[in-house]
Amino acid sequence: PSKERHVGKLIQDRLPPSAKDLLHLAGKLGRELGLPVYAVGGFVRDLLLNKPNQDIDLVVEGNGIALAKALAQELGGRVREHQEFLTSVVIFKDAKGAESRIDVATARLEYYEYPAALPTVELSSIKMDLFRRDFSINALAVRLDSTPFGQLVDFFGGQRDIKERVIRVLHTLSFVEDPTRCLRAVRFEQRYDFRISTSAERLVKNALDLKLMDKLAGPRLFGEFKHICDEDNPLACLVRMDQLGILSAIAPQLTLIPTRKALLQTLQDMLSWYRLLYFEKIPQAWLVYFLGLSHGLPYADTSDLFLRLGLPENKRGEILNQREQMRAVRGRLEAWQKRQNGQTSKVSALCEVLAPLSLESLLYLMAETGDEDLQKKLSRYITQWQHEKADISGDDLKELGLPPGPLYSHILRSALKAKLDGEALGRDAQLALAVTILREKQEVDFHKN
Ligand code: CTP
Repeated sequence: PSKERHVGKLIQDRLPPSAKDLLHLAGKLGRELGLPVYAVGGFVRDLLLNKPNQDIDLVVEGNGIALAKALAQELGGRVREHQEFLTSVVIFKDAKGAESRIDVATARLEYYEYPAALPTVELSSIKMDLFRRDFSINALAVRLDSTPFGQLVDFFGGQRDIKERVIRVLHTLSFVEDPTRCLRAVRFEQRYDFRISTSAERLVKNALDLKLMDKLAGPRLFGEFKHICDEDNPLACLVRMDQLGILSAIAPQLTLIPTRKALLQTLQDMLSWYRLLYFEKIPQAWLVYFLGLSHGLPYADTSDLFLRLGLPENKRGEILNQREQMRAVRGRLEAWQKRQNGQTSKVSALCEVLAPLSLESLLYLMAETGDEDLQKKLSRYITQWQHEKADISGDDLKELGLPPGPLYSHILRSALKAKLDGEALGRDAQLALAVTILREKQEVDFHKN
């Protein structure tokens, strides 16, 4: 690199103490062992962009496993080695007791597979390691064992591209080497509001023309799709992938016809609504988007699509199952609404209809319906009704002298129903209801005998 830049101060100012300490520790150990050690990849990119990123990846020139072992010892953790690739993971407990991991790789010259390329002797192994990466913005490194601490290593114009907000590949074979990079390019472009460079865009198109997507194994595609669904704006990624022809290259059913796109937008809004409400993402956000992507497709096409997208067998079963369940529920919901128009439908009946559905399906139904009233009801069900409990308990029934038996759950269910329907609000009303049910039962028993 021509102009030396040190990012020790950025590290000091921008990172939480735990990450800072770790980087300094890795540097100190590198110095002691005589091993140049670098933080690389997304972590460095996000440091320069001032975005939080807890995923520290280290690369060592020399024996990475030795450094990993020393690190594990200092941190009171352990090392999981992959001897054949000379990579390892250090697993340890952070200050809060949570399990934390750091990948430690070894930079090796022999990784490089294009012998025609360059006078290899002149390349350091870190340069090789970085050259194998996807985009210039991901090919930055910070040297940790140097003094002063934190020399930025930028062989391929990563800093410039961050400044110019552009996604550039390092060589023309990048997408051939790994076609998932087509999806990654879009993901980073949309996440950071960058733009894919003209030449990289041409190379993506070229990769699609070469049908390279067909060669991609399902699980890798699934991994990428899941990453996309975890972004803040997955739809923007999908729209761009559609525009570049990536979606149709993966599967013709995937094209974003207007109805599907509109539904995906609503789904995304629902998921943000949920996140704002509960301060957490729903665990399987991807499943909601996959339901959206298969909107309007017949069962067989959906099954094929999910097979192509590499869903693991059990997940494919789960999502197909949820689709079928929703079909059944839609009919019952319609009947419930008709009764509602006649003023005879009850909240408790709605809750029974919705009970078999997963959270993902509930959100999906909420997005799918154009009916504002139903949408409101579904939202109340998600936030309130499904969690509601009777205000009386088994202990109360015991005090009323009820002997153990199935009547307990019958009465508690009735109390809950009456509460949901506004017919018995509060403990007293529900106790009275319990007494009434008990009396009726006694009368029936009396007449039976
Ligand atoms: N990488 C690559 N080609 C891929 C996947 C990854 O070159 N197909 C490299 C990139 O240098 C990337 C690093 O491996 O920075 C780590 O990959 P990953 O953890 O998937 O990505 P991050 O860049 O950390 O992105 P994110 O913020 O989404 O985790």
